[in-house]
Amino acid sequence: MKKLVFIALTALLAVACCRNKDCGCKSCGCGEACSCAETKCCMANTDSAVVVKTIMARRSVRQYKAEPVRRDQMDVILQCGINAPSAMNRQPWALRVADNPEFLNACTQTWKETLPEERQAEIAADSTFRNMFRNAPTVVFIGAPENWGDLDCGLLGENMMLAAQSMGIGTCCLGGLLSFMKTEAAAPYMQQIALPEGYRLVYAIAFGYPDESPEAKPRDASVIQYLQ
Ligand SMILES: Cc1cc2nc3c(=O)[nH]c(=O)nc-3n(C[C@H](O)[C@H](O)[C@H](O)COP(=O)(O)O)c2cc1C
Repeated sequence: MKKLVFIALTALLAVACCRNKDCGCKSCGCGEACSCAETKCCMANTDSAVVVKTIMARRSVRQYKAEPVRRDQMDVILQCGINAPSAMNRQPWALRVADNPEFLNACTQTWKETLPEERQAEIAADSTFRNMFRNAPTVVFIGAPENWGDLDCGLLGENMMLAAQSMGIGTCCLGGLLSFMKTEAAAPYMQQIALPEGYRLVYAIAFGYPDESPEAKPRDASVIQYLQ
């Protein structure tokens, strides 16, 4: 009897999923098209299909709407970040959220002044340029202790980027800004970021409501090998 109920429920789930064109079956990795005859994939667990779809849909976004991400949404994203795993649960991170345009613009202005004239002219001619943080209105700076914690901070960042993606919020990792943030010119901004004593900036992440939908860049699947 129990077996019959299970079969009936599985069939029902399969039909429900197939009616939902958005079930994500193709992107869940099973390689099967969504069909009522095929029950092993998204029908078995639609939650996992949603997670996989979110991961596969994330792209680095570099054009955003002007308004900062709502703080209630950022709160959820930040909580997802600090719920990432960390070695021995040491949670070796410090997060600083900048969503005020004065800070982001002042930092950008100082950064611009450090650039060669040619690059400054390029930026001045670029009507899409808003700031050095890939034009994002909200930036999270991520710090870690001097000589460790980078891996943990990477996991924290991906948690935040995927949480943001699931809410329709775009993101972009920002590692390139480190060279400027370490300079004397950036010292006043690092002071405002105010990482704990003995911490350094590892990277930042741009957040915002997307104003572009970039295509996925190709991935090299040959790097994956099962041991014989
Ligand atoms: C550690 C790290 C640092 C990055 N730094 C920058 C950066 O400074 N500026 C930028 O535009 N993108 C940066 N990116 C984003 C990558 O360019 C992007 O993830 C990659 O091209 C793949 O594209 P996708 O994120 O759309 O899949 C960085 C990504 C990582 C993981």
